[in-house]
Order: sequence, then C-alpha cells, then structure tokens
Amino acid sequence: MIITLGHTKGGVGKSTLALNIAIERLHAGSDILLIDGDQRQTSVSKAVGIRSDAGITPTLPCVILDDIRSFRQQVGLLKQKYNDLVIDVGARDTGALRAALTVTDVLLLPIAPESVEIWAIEDVIEIIREARSIRDFRVVAILNRAKPSGRDNADTIAVIREYADIELIQGSIGSRGAFSSAFGRGLSISEYRPLNPKGVEEITLLLRALYC
Ligand SMILES: Nc1ncnc2c1ncn2[C@@H]1O[C@H](COP(=O)(O)OP(=O)(O)O)[C@@H](O)[C@H]1O
Ligand SMILES: [Mg+2]
Repeated sequence: MIITLGHTKGGVGKSTLALNIAIERLHAGSDILLIDGDQRQTSVSKAVGIRSDAGITPTLPCVILDDIRSFRQQVGLLKQKYNDLVIDVGARDTGALRAALTVTDVLLLPIAPESVEIWAIEDVIEIIREARSIRDFRVVAILNRAKPSGRDNADTIAVIREYADIELIQGSIGSRGAFSSAFGRGLSISEYRPLNPKGVEEITLLLRALYC
C-alpha cells in the first residue's frame, strides 16, 4: 500500500508522522520503504541518516526522490520492490504532491487546531479534487498537535467534517515534545525514551485506521 503524507502547507506534521508510520510498519515486519519527496527540505531522510549513523535497528530503508518529472515512474518501480511505501511530500512544491497523488492509495492530511491550518484545507482540497477526478484514492485527515484542553480541537473537527471528500480519523495526535525529540534522533515515538505512553497509543490507533 502507498500512503502519502501531503499538504500544501508546511509545518503540519507530514514528516513527523511519515517517520512514525514507516518505523511502526518496520516493527510490524512490513517490507517498507520511506520516500523523501520533499526536494527543498529533506528532513525525513536526515532523520533516517541520524538513525543509521547511530546504528539503530531495525534499519529503515529510505530514498530521496528529487526529480518531479520521473517521480511517478520511480514510485512505480519502487512499488514492485516493496510492499509498503510511505511518501513524505514537501509543501511548497505542489508538483511532487500532484505526482504522488497519481500513484497513492491513501493521502494522509495532518491538520492542527489552528486557524491557518483550517484555512489551508481550501488550497489542498482543490488539488485533491483535481487528482480524484482522474483516479480515486482514500483521503484521510488526522488532527495533529491536538491541544490538551479548550474548544479548538472540536471546532477544527467540525470544519473537517464539512468536507464530504475527507474521511476524519477517530482520535488525534497530541502536541507532545516527545514527537519532536524522537524525530531529531531518527526514532519513532515508541522507540523514544522516556516512553510517552499516550503518544504511542495515538500512533498505534493511527496505524490501525490506516492499515485496516
Ligand atoms: N504531534 C506533535 N507534537 C509536537 N510537535 C510536533 C507534532 N507534530 C509535528 N510537530 C513539530 O512541528 C514541526 C513541523 O513538523 P513537520 O513534521 O516537520 O511538518 P511538515 O513536514 O508538515 O513541514 C516540527 O518541529 C515538529 O517537531
Ligand atoms: Mg516535512
């Protein structure tokens, strides 16, 4: 299965979730490849590089795809070698996002309970609708960096629900420093110590919803 983490907005948590999903699939025994399709900010492959330099196992296979023209073709070839692909796409370069949407099975949109992120749904939905008019794929949103209290989470969920073409995943990913700290070490939240049980549970539920 191919899962693409994509959005027209940066800083929403695409790379953070891509790394966590890929590592959790790896632990589950899947034959997974993480594709860094963010030409300008190859953060996910940097995190994998740190993981590799530190000798952390299991080793996470990762490639950078930086040529948009051959993106679709390259993914097609990689799909023959790996059962599972997770693609992290940069925000500014919608070319890579559009290319990924021609091959993906699932588009995962992280959305935080912030006005700017809610407004940004309008930009990405146009690209999604255009891509889906040619080929259908699953579009799922996850509330990322959910707040511990207040009404912002519920308000954001209400807005996402207004989009009939977006499936909202039950549960959310909380705003937890452990996600940032783990990413900087090339680790998933379940590998990071001290253990953050709530974060681990959130990622477990996300994986269950994606690979059901
Ligand atoms: N659930 C979370 N809790 C805390 N920090 C987060 C969370 N998700 C993302 N971040 C932080 O937000 C910033 C942007 O995340 P990143 O995954 O790089 O976004 P994107 O790839 O969409 O640009 C990073 O500093 C990251 O550590
Ligand atoms: Mg990123």
